[in-house]
Amino acid sequence: MNVLFINIKELIQVRENSVDFLAGKEMNILPTIKNAFLLVENGLIADFGLMENCPKTNVKTIDAKDRMILPSWCDSHTHLVYAGNREDEFVDRINGLSYAEIANNGGGILNSAKKLQQTSQEDLYNQSKVRLEEIIQLGTGAVEMKSGYGLTKDAELKMLRVIRKLKENYPVEIKATFLGAHAVPAEYKNNKSGYLQMLIEDILPTIQKENLADFIDIFCETGYFSVDDTNRILKAGKKHGLVGKIHVNQFTTIGGIEAGVKNSVLSVDHLEEMRTEDIEVLKNTKTMPVALPSCSYFLSIPFTPARKMIDAGLPLALATDYNPGSTPSGNMNFVVATACIKMKMTPEEAINAATINGAYAMNSLDKVGSITKGKIANLILTKKINSYNFIPYSFGNHQIDSVFLKGTEIKKS
Ligand code: NIG
Ligand code: FE
Repeated sequence: MNVLFINIKELIQVRENSVDFLAGKEMNILPTIKNAFLLVENGLIADFGLMENCPKTNVKTIDAKDRMILPSWCDSHTHLVYAGNREDEFVDRINGLSYAEIANNGGGILNSAKKLQQTSQEDLYNQSKVRLEEIIQLGTGAVEMKSGYGLTKDAELKMLRVIRKLKENYPVEIKATFLGAHAVPAEYKNNKSGYLQMLIEDILPTIQKENLADFIDIFCETGYFSVDDTNRILKAGKKHGLVGKIHVNQFTTIGGIEAGVKNSVLSVDHLEEMRTEDIEVLKNTKTMPVALPSCSYFLSIPFTPARKMIDAGLPLALATDYNPGSTPSGNMNFVVATACIKMKMTPEEAINAATINGAYAMNSLDKVGSITKGKIANLILTKKINSYNFIPYSFGNHQIDSVFLKGTEIKKS
């Protein structure tokens, strides 16, 4: 698709050359061009600059007067393929039960797994595509999706095949993660090692053969999987060509971050509980810390200490964690606003964390995350706003006028 945007009030997240991730003080710098043009050719960003240098072409032109353009959100952590919802558990929590108590009573991840095992691949696809279409309207142009609500060979592969079909049918950038080690299923209650062995020896070879995943993930947490389990899964994943990511430090600190760094994982996600040594171990590494503020909000658990981490020089990405238990929301606009309001990130830091750093955390920096020539034209055209600060300021709302994927406007639902 070819299109020329003219009179853009402010073109946000402009990078002449593709940068690596942003860390520490760099996160507070958000390069923009005021009164800009943006040319899209064949779905890719072809050119941009000041209006006075706007090329004369006869391609379709959109006058963006008083409106801004930024790259689509990159949501590097979701579980949006799932069956059914868990609003009963939500009410149980309101009435005083904790997330752990609900899980121990057969709720939680095992509840979702039971539902998913009984759901056909077609039904699962249909339920998931509704969520994908919803987040596209909310400005997400790149999204990672995890398995982990199957917990059997058939059901885990079913999830990954649904992700593959979504990837084939939608123009968003999608990455898939194998999260078989999300919880120990009831059949393996007293044989966690046997369960891990099944994941490694039975499922991983099929995933590799059919090229069903990019990443491998594990829930490294008290009551779920230990640091030893984490090492075992990450090493096995690597052998089968999968890059590591981990759920870690959500409720307790058991040394998972160090294990992740030693295994060169691409990202460590959650981090609601952070000790000084956890921050230290992440310094000068290629591992991206990922905060999930909607999860903290929904479960009323601490927010990731973004200020402490960024002030220590670390990078940070923001993602939704969209899932039926801890975060039934895939709204990146809310994530960005909450990061500013509750984690004291500046709008510049939050936008960088939700675009460039998010793209890094899903290995998609070559395609998305900034306004850079050659990248895919996945774009947000804002409503009429005075400054980009209005994006997080107007929390609970969004400032999206329209969304473009590969340069094509997505019809409003
Ligand atoms: O990332 N923490 C582990 N997994 C999910 C939630 C799982 C669930 O409750 O269904 C998360 O928050
Ligand atoms: Fe998660």
